[in-house]
Amino acid sequence: MMKKRIGILTGGGDVPPLNAVIASARAAASAENIELVGILKGWEGALEGNFIDLASVPIDPAIGGTVIKSSRLNVGKIADGPSRILENLQKNNISGLIVIGGEDTLSIAFLLPFFPQVLIAKTIDNDVGQWKKAVAESAPEQILNYFTLGFPTAAEKISSFVSLKEGLRTTAYSHERIIIVESMGMQAGWLALSSALGHPDFIIIPEFPLEYEYFLDRVLRKYARQKHLVIVVAEGARWPGSSFILAEKDEIEAFDHPRFGGAARALQERLKKDLAGYFPTRNVNAVNPSYLYRSGAPNSLDHHWAQKLGERAVQLLAARTEEPIFLSMEKDEAGFFIQDHPLAEFQLIGDLHRFVDSRLYDPGEFRATEKGLKYLREILREIPFDNSYGIRR
Ligand code: F6P
Repeated sequence: MMKKRIGILTGGGDVPPLNAVIASARAAASAENIELVGILKGWEGALEGNFIDLASVPIDPAIGGTVIKSSRLNVGKIADGPSRILENLQKNNISGLIVIGGEDTLSIAFLLPFFPQVLIAKTIDNDVGQWKKAVAESAPEQILNYFTLGFPTAAEKISSFVSLKEGLRTTAYSHERIIIVESMGMQAGWLALSSALGHPDFIIIPEFPLEYEYFLDRVLRKYARQKHLVIVVAEGARWPGSSFILAEKDEIEAFDHPRFGGAARALQERLKKDLAGYFPTRNVNAVNPSYLYRSGAPNSLDHHWAQKLGERAVQLLAARTEEPIFLSMEKDEAGFFIQDHPLAEFQLIGDLHRFVDSRLYDPGEFRATEKGLKYLREILREIPFDNSYGIRR
């Protein structure tokens, strides 16, 4: 009898734990006597029929990136896209798919509602999931998909970049500078929010448009006391009226997102103008770590759950799930666990698009609330607060 074959694909921006998912899915498949087929460059490979046998491909789970590569193809914009994909899968005897992606990549699964698929959310943006309202004020929040793969590693990086012990705070202090650090996050400010565990002075996120005059006043007041500042701004941050602080709008990609990048520089320019005469404008700086957030090795939390998710996905497909399933990272008193959710529970992928709200972020103070900090502390270590250089909370 022919071996059962299942496919695996990775789409959208890569994240460090992708190879860990692929390697563990391959091991689990082999234990079930299933062949795992790599689909190259996400949905593009499914559409073009670019499949590889993963059996002999070297995969190091501790190395970032994805051995099967990634792309951002919007199959929804190709009239016969879904039917061509189904045809290619059937022709190659692929009876199930593991789809690893962010909101855009996962949205394509809704176009193949009758094909067995297991969906794994990955994105350093952490914007796939739901923060459901607590049933009662005192009840714990119910969180669907507590974190997305890749977020823990990126969050650890940004909090380290802004901190005193490990990051930019020391040089900001020595030179009495304002350093503005850009985070990724086009529409959602989770990554910027996570920098809170490295104690920056101000965090600006896309969900709360920046009232510049108010912000400038806060900057001046805190600078007067502290003589240096570390500010985090998300790439998708906006001015009131919803224009972006900066996005190169001429470069729109397949899912209609503009290319972001440069919010820190734009804010730097504006502050330079307004602070001229107050202190040397050379002392307002911008740093954009950009792709460093999603490059390199996964941290241990990402690595561990990537392996578990890969394993679970194969088990579900081996047991012949007929409907698409979304794998959600959930949490109870005992810790994190994986919960299966039939995709049919969600009307639209938009149901799974999650934003930071005022439970977690205080726009008046430009910082995470206690609840926001509590949420983050479950995912990453807090860099101990250190006021050696007179920094204030
Ligand atoms: O969606 C993940 C992400 O890393 C975003 O944070 C960022 O805006 C985007 O991808 C960058 O995409 P690209 O790889 O197309 O430059």
